[in-house]
Amino acid sequence: MAFSPAAQFPIYPPPQYGGPGVAVKRPREFACFSYDKDHAFRLDDSSLKWYYPPILPADLSKGADTFVKHDDSIDEHLDSLLATIQSYEQQKGEAIDAHIVTWRGMLTKIMAAPYDGDAFEMNATLYRGSIFIEENHAFKQQKQQQENNRPRRNGFSSSLMSFWGYKFETLSTLPRPWGEISRDYIENRDNEVVNNKEQYCSVVRTGFGNSIVCIGGEVDAIWDAKPENPGEPINWVELKTSAEIREARDQVNFDRKLMKYWIQSFLLGVPKIIVGFRTQKGILTRIEELQTMNIPKEVQHRRLVSWDGNVCIKFTSLFLDWLRANITDEGVWRIRRAHRSNVIELFRVEEVGHGNIITDDFMNWRIKL
Ligand code: A3P
Ligand code: MG
Ligand code: MG
Repeated sequence: MAFSPAAQFPIYPPPQYGGPGVAVKRPREFACFSYDKDHAFRLDDSSLKWYYPPILPADLSKGADTFVKHDDSIDEHLDSLLATIQSYEQQKGEAIDAHIVTWRGMLTKIMAAPYDGDAFEMNATLYRGSIFIEENHAFKQQKQQQENNRPRRNGFSSSLMSFWGYKFETLSTLPRPWGEISRDYIENRDNEVVNNKEQYCSVVRTGFGNSIVCIGGEVDAIWDAKPENPGEPINWVELKTSAEIREARDQVNFDRKLMKYWIQSFLLGVPKIIVGFRTQKGILTRIEELQTMNIPKEVQHRRLVSWDGNVCIKFTSLFLDWLRANITDEGVWRIRRAHRSNVIELFRVEEVGHGNIITDDFMNWRIKL
């Protein structure tokens, strides 16, 4: 296939993104959707979970043999995000005003790029004034394979370690608010079947400098209840597991990891992160509450690693300006960063159409508009 010549966006060393910051908007949820226990799409909040502290200690491996695991070999593109946006637009009678529409995971990769060397590949297309960005599924699968084959220090398989994260979610949440749940359920969450097909996803409108961005992403739980007025901040909770911090080196690794936690939560406006600390063997021993907003200054105060949230924001804002200046025509574009590369490349892989990024349903709806 003959590719158009690549345009390149440089990833300079972080100090070059100093100086005055850029305006950011607070993310506001304007729609949501759920996947039920069979991963069927539902235009509602039926899979929302309420946070309730887990009973300690707990064995995170328990129930791994009955794990109902989502098959991620299927490429889901932006389908559910588009269906949710479409339904919102049908109620409003107009298109949303976002310049960029994507999953939270894509922006997490961009925001982290000045500090990590992770490779990524995305597909993008311009349709009716918005750039839609999806992950390049084949690339993701390939990368996941490599990750699964990487030997682990503690001798556990990466699939079991990934189960630990979902098990922690089951141990720390309730399917309905606390007042509507029996004591018995709360005390026996350890016996619940772990199922990662079920998800609640928030769809927000936010801003990076000149760009209005619509992001869809999974939210693990809510602290209390959604506010009365739409658009008000929501007390979301992000759940994370991490190995116990035993020596100085562990704290260094954790502070590095906190950058990803912070970015991920910042993007959807999640104010609180609950970290479940576990032993090397997967016993959950302790939980700690972090306020997302305070993470950058706490990490800076410890001075073990240096990352600056403002740099992540400024970099992303400049990148989105550049992307919008370069994707000006139809077709499918590839956004690519090779491992440790200091450029993000952009080139056209299809000259016409929108590939599989935009669904027929969404296109037919927008044509009518
Ligand atoms: P931990 O983050 O506690 O390890 P999220 O935190 O984003 O809500 O994801 C929930 C869990 O999904 C993670 O829990 C982890 O177990 C699993 N997970 C997420 N991304 C993963 C990846 N790239 N590879 C393997 N497991 C992953
Ligand atoms: Mg999650
Ligand atoms: Mg989580």
